[in-house]
Amino acid sequence: MATEQTLVLVKPDGVARGLTGAILARIEAKGYSLVDIRLVDPDRERLEQHYAEHEGKPFYEPLLEFMMSGPSVAIRLAGNRVIEGFRSLAGTTDPTTAAPGTIRGDFGRDWGLAVQQNLVHGSDSVESANRELAIWFD
Ligand code: TYD
Ligand code: MG
Repeated sequence: MATEQTLVLVKPDGVARGLTGAILARIEAKGYSLVDIRLVDPDRERLEQHYAEHEGKPFYEPLLEFMMSGPSVAIRLAGNRVIEGFRSLAGTTDPTTAAPGTIRGDFGRDWGLAVQQNLVHGSDSVESANRELAIWFD
C-alpha cells in the first residue's frame, strides 16, 4: 500500500507568530514524515487555484488577502491516513470552538476579522491532496 500524502500549510499568521516550530513538533511527534518543506510567498494566481472551491463565497477575497500578507510554510507530509490524521491534529475550522489539544484549539485566536486566521491548512481528500501538492510543489 502506498503511503498517503497531504499538503499542510502553516499559514501567514502561524509563521508571523513564530509557531512554525511548535506546529512541526506536533506533526513529528505524531510520527508523520516530512517529505518536502519550503517557505512560499504565494501570488494571487496560486491562491486562486488553491482556494478554487471557495470562489464567490463572502470570505473568499479577505481570505486571499490574508494569505498574501506573508509567507506560508508548505509541507509535503506522508504517513498512514495522514490526510484525516492531520485534520484531526489541526482541529475544526473555527479556532474559537476547535477542541483544546488541537493546533487551532490551542493556538488559534478569534481576531474579530472577516478572515479566520486559523494557523494551518490540511487537504481534505486524496483528490484535494494531489491537486494542492501540485500547486505548492510544482
Ligand atoms: P474551509 O475549507 O471550509 O476550512 P478548512 O481550512 O478547515 O478546510 O475554508 C478554508 C479557509 O477559509 C478556512 O481555513 C478559513 C477560511 N474561512 C473563513 O475565513 N470564513 C469561513 O466562514 C470559512 C468557512 C472559512
Ligand atoms: Mg478546506
